[in-house]
Amino acid sequence: MNFRLVAIGALAALAGVIGALAFVPGAIDGLLPKRGDITVGKALIGGPFELTSHDGKRVRDAKYRGKLMLVYFGFTYCPDICPAGLQVISAALDNIGAQSDKVAPLFITVDPERDTPEQLKSYVSSFHPSLTGLTGSAADISAAAKAYRVYYRKAQDPSLSEYTMDHTSFVYLMDDKGDFITHFPHAVTPDKLAARLKAELEKL
Ligand code: NI
Repeated sequence: MNFRLVAIGALAALAGVIGALAFVPGAIDGLLPKRGDITVGKALIGGPFELTSHDGKRVRDAKYRGKLMLVYFGFTYCPDICPAGLQVISAALDNIGAQSDKVAPLFITVDPERDTPEQLKSYVSSFHPSLTGLTGSAADISAAAKAYRVYYRKAQDPSLSEYTMDHTSFVYLMDDKGDFITHFPHAVTPDKLAARLKAELEKL
């Protein structure tokens, strides 16, 4: 028996289970490391990315060091989930007022095929002036999604003429060093999100 192969098989199976659970809202809560937990090394969520902003500039995650990052993956053709998530983020930013300049709210598309910088720019600006839309090549998006353990796939809805995207819809809160703090469901209340932002801003 080849134990190395057995170990690799077990890891692959575990990754599969986590991947499947990621699409069930709330199901991965227990798997995500939280601040204060005893963890070895860095949290599993987040990491370096290089993408194209809605102004057409290449940006890296390091650009946002010194600020909290709110990271949300979605797509501009999303009928309801993404607009709901972005409305919550926008309302929370308004709630914290001037302190929001210490928060970088990022909307990373999982649909780079349709979400060009121009498309993203008009979309995010309809929610909040401080939102940054990020797109890139399929490989750029895949790498960023992998870092945040985000699942997405193209899907066909028979009632729609165009394809849609299935995707994980958590809002990730990252600290000023880019490390994971916590995540929220897209349906979190603006008050709850704002309260957590204020608490984390006080630690900066
Ligand atoms: Ni969506």
